[in-house]
Amino acid sequence: MNKNTPINYDTVKDKISKCKKSKVGNASIREIVRIVNEIETETGEKFIRMEMGVPGLTPPEIGTEAEIAALRRGVAAKYPMIDGVADLKDEAQRFVKLFLDLDISREHCLPSVGSMQGSYATFSVINRTDRNKEGTLFIDPGFPVQKQQVRMMGHDFMSFDVYNYRGEALHDKLESYLKTGKVSSIMYSNPNNPSWICFTERELQIIGELATKYDAVVIEDLAYFGMDFRKDFAQPGVAPYQPTVAHYTDNYILLISSSKVFSYAGQRVGIIAVSGKLFEREYPDLTRYFPNKQFGHSLVFGALYSLSSGVTHSSQYAVAAMLKAVNDGEFKFIDHVKEYGRRAKIVKRIFTENDFSIVYDKDENEKIADGFFFTFSYPGFSGVDLLEEMLYYGISSISLNITGSERTEGLRACVSQINGHQFEQLETRLKAFYKDHQ
Ligand SMILES: Cc1ncc(COP(=O)(O)O)c(C=O)c1O
Repeated sequence: MNKNTPINYDTVKDKISKCKKSKVGNASIREIVRIVNEIETETGEKFIRMEMGVPGLTPPEIGTEAEIAALRRGVAAKYPMIDGVADLKDEAQRFVKLFLDLDISREHCLPSVGSMQGSYATFSVINRTDRNKEGTLFIDPGFPVQKQQVRMMGHDFMSFDVYNYRGEALHDKLESYLKTGKVSSIMYSNPNNPSWICFTERELQIIGELATKYDAVVIEDLAYFGMDFRKDFAQPGVAPYQPTVAHYTDNYILLISSSKVFSYAGQRVGIIAVSGKLFEREYPDLTRYFPNKQFGHSLVFGALYSLSSGVTHSSQYAVAAMLKAVNDGEFKFIDHVKEYGRRAKIVKRIFTENDFSIVYDKDENEKIADGFFFTFSYPGFSGVDLLEEMLYYGISSISLNITGSERTEGLRACVSQINGHQFEQLETRLKAFYKDHQ
């Protein structure tokens, strides 16, 4: 290999050899973060950081001010109600009506400590509703830590890469898993982390109808709500709405994170919006783990109570205030995050001009949107080897291997941390990579 690389060859080699993995390309997101931090410190060179999905924008003032005001009112002294403060519940109910066109009552809109806790809590209840079922079906690629959550609880899971099963082909593939009678919950994110594919209405209809047929509950992770920038989901109460499986089944739970849409990741607030029919439904098998057989009661007074006994009081007020501004049409949250789409368009162009390809490139026949993440490959490299090689060129990413993807040639890149002044540097480094590997 050429040792005259943009980042000092010996330092990179040394850090890779010390990472305690047979292949650094198989490292988790947080492990890559650590290695890159170490290389940056030792060489004084900045990487193009694309490994971690950190919001790269400042949080809206409305949220910060509302949070400070709540603290000044003294809310910190009181335990928050587990099912959420009234303002948040009211605004969450309005939000799902205005941006998803769904009627979900305020009682069924609950706060969680990020969507991370939302998924943990909902897995813990759904996967225990029926003693004859075993766990979760992940429609992959997906967010690796959610599988870790399921494992921690001792539930089983199945998964498949949706790459070859888009459109009508999804039906039979999905049904083949549901037919086993072992699936309690179906999990996916839409837009998808890591691939940024977005399910079409037809695909959501297939998922919803099969969930009803086989009595499985869909956990729809909307961490990137409204961020398919090909369509305009920004107008409250006006179509088009963020697509959702909830239009096709009553067996659903929606996870709405504030981390990316409001750049509020640090304050850890998400919303769990539960279908009314599911919330009220009784499952006798739940009493093996929870005090009550009602689904909603088990979620609130079983799972959420024992996990954190509610969500930080002040940050609930922050999200309530931001949602109110969005619902009132005063804060165009989607316009705010469109910056990610702008960055992705430029970055993807620079990659493809240097012989890289986009791995997940289509939603059925349509080119995927430009957004928070994209996936890429380079001829002749596996994803794991490509990740390692690119570290010498000062570019960090994660391997699709760890996301349940079968596209072993692929890597995931996140554009959130790339600033305007780095585009030129990215181009120089990718040109160097191309020159050394063509
Ligand atoms: C698909 C997906 N779900 C959930 C999360 C976590 O959301 P939160 O920060 O609200 O816990 C992320 C964050 O990266 C994500 O990509």
